[in-house]
Amino acid sequence: MKIKILTIFPEMFDSVFSASILGRAREQGLLETEVLDIRPFSDRKHQNTDDYPFGGGAGMVMLAQPIHDAMAAAMGPDFHGKRIYLGPRGQTLTTGKARSLAREEELILLCGHYEGVDQRALDTCVDEEISIGDYILTGGELAAMVLTDCVARFIPGVLGSAESPEEESFSDGLLEYPQYTRPRIWEGLPVPEILLNGDHAKIRAWRRQESLRATLRFRPDLLSSASLTPEDLRFLDSLKRENVSLDEKSCREEESPCSREN
Ligand SMILES: C[S@@+](CC[C@H](N)C(=O)[O-])C[C@H]1O[C@@H](n2cnc3c(N)ncnc32)[C@H](O)[C@@H]1O
Repeated sequence: MKIKILTIFPEMFDSVFSASILGRAREQGLLETEVLDIRPFSDRKHQNTDDYPFGGGAGMVMLAQPIHDAMAAAMGPDFHGKRIYLGPRGQTLTTGKARSLAREEELILLCGHYEGVDQRALDTCVDEEISIGDYILTGGELAAMVLTDCVARFIPGVLGSAESPEEESFSDGLLEYPQYTRPRIWEGLPVPEILLNGDHAKIRAWRRQESLRATLRFRPDLLSSASLTPEDLRFLDSLKRENVSLDEKSCREEESPCSREN
């Protein structure tokens, strides 16, 4: 798969694209990346890429012309893929989105800066807008790195053979179970016994329950769209009952805002 990035800060990508799994994927030819500097495409005298906003207001807006020309150069004569603008009003990046983008032959990622990009460039040069969350970054570069990293994990062969992007948090709609490594006892804290006995069916069942427990605790909103078995639902019910009785117990035993309200 090929990912091209259009940016006015190409130097930001060097270390991220050279290290760790992304670096290895590039070395193995599984992922090809090309970072294009938008500045040389500007037809302005000093190759500037931004100007004041029409209508007034703070900050600068990226010019349409250099983006249009840089995009045309990045696409070449036979582009087959998706052109994406990283921007806060786009659809939020999810595991599902990353999985489907990994099936594209090529992605071109446009990074905005300053107050954003002239809307006419977005209207004519972009297929889709993607946000990495409900907050504002100073530029689209970090978002493009996040998207590249997340998509690359779904390219066949990028993760080692033992790893699977489908066994991580969010891949089946749930968060991941807790992980442990050596030593068996650290600072008096033991690893759960079940992980040490080599019974893979029991380990799988324990992990499923711990995934459900973590999701209920940290992201209960995910449970409504996760695919759950009747056994999962029974386990969740038992957790909820346990929590309610624990809450009631602590209200009875302690001076707490809860007992004061009663
Ligand atoms: C300071 S932001 C511009 C924000 C814009 N004025 C607004 O209020 O929506 C500069 C650039 O950062 C990138 N950016 C900021 N937040 C982002 C987010 N949550 N996801 C993806 N890209 C983002 C976009 O490319 C944007 O053009």
